[in-house]
This record gives sequence, C-alpha cells and structure tokens, in this order.
Amino acid sequence: MDLSLSSTLSYVVLTFTLLLLLKFLIPTTKSNKKNHSKLPPGPTPLPIIGNLLKLGNKPHHSLANLADIHGPIMTLKLGQVTTVVISSADMAKEVLLTHDLITSNRTVPDALSVLNHDQYSLSFMRVSPRWRDLRKICNYQLFSNKTLDSSQALRRRKLQDLLNDIERCSKVGEAVDVGKAAFKTTVNLLSNTFFSVDFVHSAKEAGEYKEIIVSILKEVGVPNVSDFFPMLKFLDLQGIRKRSIVSVKKVLSIFKRFVGERVKMREGTGSIGNDDVLDALLNMSSDGGKIEMDKDEIEHLLLNIFVAGTDTTTYTLEWAMAELIHNPEMMSKLKEELEKTVGKGIPVEETDIAKLPYMQAVIKETFRLHPPVPLLLPRRAEIDVKIGDYVIPKDAQILINAWVVGRDPTKWENPNVFIPERFLDSEIDIKGHHFELIPFGSGRRTCPGLPLAIRMLPLMLGSLVNCFDWKLEDGLNVEDFNKEDEFGITLEKSQPVRIVPTKLY
Ligand code: HEM
Repeated sequence: MDLSLSSTLSYVVLTFTLLLLLKFLIPTTKSNKKNHSKLPPGPTPLPIIGNLLKLGNKPHHSLANLADIHGPIMTLKLGQVTTVVISSADMAKEVLLTHDLITSNRTVPDALSVLNHDQYSLSFMRVSPRWRDLRKICNYQLFSNKTLDSSQALRRRKLQDLLNDIERCSKVGEAVDVGKAAFKTTVNLLSNTFFSVDFVHSAKEAGEYKEIIVSILKEVGVPNVSDFFPMLKFLDLQGIRKRSIVSVKKVLSIFKRFVGERVKMREGTGSIGNDDVLDALLNMSSDGGKIEMDKDEIEHLLLNIFVAGTDTTTYTLEWAMAELIHNPEMMSKLKEELEKTVGKGIPVEETDIAKLPYMQAVIKETFRLHPPVPLLLPRRAEIDVKIGDYVIPKDAQILINAWVVGRDPTKWENPNVFIPERFLDSEIDIKGHHFELIPFGSGRRTCPGLPLAIRMLPLMLGSLVNCFDWKLEDGLNVEDFNKEDEFGITLEKSQPVRIVPTKLY
C-alpha cells in the first residue's frame, strides 16, 4: 500500500473513532443492522478500515492470494464499502450473464466524479436511456464494420508512419521504446478513425499526452480514501480529486479545441466537413434526429473513448512484444506465418488478419496473461443478488478479477506459461462468450471498442514482426527483462520494452 494512503488512513481511523464514540453516547432506538449471514466468506475485517491493508500495491495479485484462501466469491470490507470479489470463470458467468441486468451499474471512483465526467462518461454513467443511446452510437457509428472498413486507408497511413519511425531507428541502431511508439500510433489511429486528422505529431507530444492519460488512469486506480469512506469525500485527503481535475481539464481542453474548430469550419463553409465520425456526432446535435448530443457530451464521449482505448491497446502490444522477445521460437513461428501469408517485409493489412491464426493466438494469449484492465470496471449490485448459497447485498461493489480468471489452473494447463498454441484448436475467443477469458468484460457493459482494438493490435504487432528483426539493447539479456506490472485502473509495464530493430526486405 502506498505511503500516502497509509498515513491518510491514520487520520481516517482517528476521525471514525470520534464518530463512533459520538454514536455510542447518543443511543439510537432503531437498529439498522442487516443480516449479513449469507455474505460470501472473506478475511476478518479490522475495525473502521476493514480489509483495506490487504489490497497492497497490486490489488489483482493480493486479491488472487486471498481467493486461494476464501474461494472464488469472497467479501472484503474496504473501509465502509462492502466489496464482493469474483475470481473464477463460473462465478464471473453468474454475475456477467445470469445477473447482468442487476449488476450493470458501476461504483464511480471519486477521481472521475469531476467536471461532470461521471454523468457524461459512457464508462461510468448509470444504465439509462442516455447510456443506451451512447452505446447505439458506438455500435452503429463509431465501431460498426462499415465505419471501420471505410477508415482502413487512414489507419494504413498511420501504420506506415510507425514503420517509418522504426526504420529511422534501425538505420542508426537505436532502441525503440515500444510502448511510446505504440501509444503515438494508437492515439493517431483513433483520431484518424474518428476525425480524420493526427492528434499528436511528434514523439514529444505523444509522450506528454501519454503522461496525462496515464496520470488519469493511475488516479482512478490508486486506492482512494474518498471511495472507501464516502462521508470523507469532501476532504479529498490524498489530493486525488484535485490532481484529477487538472488532468481531465487538460485533455478536455484539447477536445474542446478540436470540436470548436470543426464547428467553425462547418459554419464557415456551410458543408458537413469531413464526413467522418465527428461530423456524424455534430450532425446529431444539429438535425434534431432521434439521438441528440450537445457539444459538451461529444467532448466527454471523446475523452472517454481516448482514455479507454489508448493505454489498453498500447499495453497489450508492449506485452505481446515482450513475450515474443522472451520466446524466440514463438517469434520465429509468427514470422514464418507472416512471411507465408503476407510476404516478408510487407506491412499487415486489416484484410490479412483472418488468415493469420498464429498471430491471433499470440494476441489471445497476451490478453489471457496480461489483461490490461485486470479487475474490469467495478460494478454495483442494484438489489440483493443471490449466487449459489450466498447473497451479494444491494449496493455492494463487485470486482471481477479477470487476471486470476485467466490463470485458473482448473481451466488452463500450465496457466502461468505463455503458450499461444493452446488457442490454435480452441473455440475460445475474447468477445465475452467464454468466461475463462474476459479481457474486454462481458454482458451489457462489455467494451464497445473491441472491434477497433482487434484491428489495431494485429496491424501493429504483425507489421512490427514482419518488417523488422528485433534484439535487446546491448548488454541486456532476456533474463534481465523485467516482466512486472504497475497497477492503475489499467496496468502499466513497470519497465518499458526497449528493443533494437533491423529492417527486413
Ligand atoms: C486492448 C484493448 C481494450 C481492452 C482490453 C478493453 C477493456 C475494457 C473493459 C474490461 C471494459 C469494462 C467491461 C465491463 O465492465 O464488463 C471496457 C469498457 C469500455 N471500453 Fe474498452 N478496452 C479496450 C479498448 C478500447 C477501445 C479501443 C475503446 C474505444 C476506442 C474502448 C472503449 C471503452 C468504453 C467506452 C467502455 C465503457 C463501456 C460501458 O461502460 O458501457 N475500449 N473496456
């Protein structure tokens, strides 16, 4: 647990002790104690702070260890918040399929309840007619096959920019920071898909933008006293809300500028602009159609999509490359498949993806071992939810540990070893139908960006592997290569993947 949280907890304990004393001094007539006899089992909570100290720096690891003791459905008291943690495919299916409707709302982290983002953000708003409208916009406008097919050429160009950057490094024998390069490309793949322009131009700009996005995700992922003791929210004891406002404002201002410029251009020319997704969204706000969106909503939707889509995709690519560097025989197998199907040294096209089963297996195996959102996004029980002999009480927070589900030894042979071959003769996909592999979640709130993510990842991974040979920087051995994560709401690799390319012809 980070130090600032532990010291903050001392204040919390003090404040609560005073409150408890007051409670005992002023007797109440009615007991509002609920019968918790059917709560799933879990570690014994300490007074006031409950099981908070059990979370540690990497909650997905600590919760996996606790699940070994208490089972695949367990209760933790995180401060005042009753939290039920799901750690098996069968239990995940119960929540995400059987009880999807009554567990579809979320607990909203205080770090995101800033500048109205919680009300506008698709990821955290309540399931409501507005949420349904936004999901429809995602399914039919942003991520439909038709939209994505028609923006393929733009993504091809951005991929070529990435390959040109890497070629420059290969000429001088310079190492590439795969995470940084992938981040710049992903941001521009998204911005070109949605508004036909580059969002960031230089590696420096990409680095600055990545820093803001990662800081938002870290603030959301860090254990926050305000979330565990909602009555102390107003104190913002760790300063998380304050920092989050600064970062969210920074990104929102970029989108405001973008949207503002496009509105001006449309007004000036009287045309609908570029006929891209941004124009489609602006048309909705002006043509009085079935779904209306105002400018604020568009800006928050874009913020949400960029935050949700960039780091997740980048992290997966970084891990896929790290695993391939660790496993040279798998790298060779992938190169062979690409050479046979696409042709050595040629960038991968979206139409090639279906013909590359080994590459798809590498990506699935990366998702199994390294799901970028290890605890998915938190859900909340709308009413009491009965699962087997247990009851998840109304308002409890539900966390699904996709990281441990992907490593369940009863579902996966050699669960901690990277073996893409396991997917070659397997029906298991990542679309939320097979609960042993749920990196994108499942059910109503499953990730709407999946269709784009599963185009961008093979494009980048396949082209990096097919157009270049890769080796570690001088003096580094595979064993020195760190395979650790840092926890935010999405994971970050704690050591960047820096590898040296050689161009292939
Ligand atoms: C490797 C890529 C990605 C992964 C692993 C991923 C994972 C996830 C997960 C686990 C959730 C929560 C699902 C649940 O609660 O059941 C989610 C939600 C979401 N994702 Fe993704 N995501 C990825 C890429 C993207 C992209 C590219 C976009 C958009 C461009 C995106 C936009 C969203 C949005 C808007 C939500 C919230 C949906 C809602 O609550 O209704 N994601 N994602």
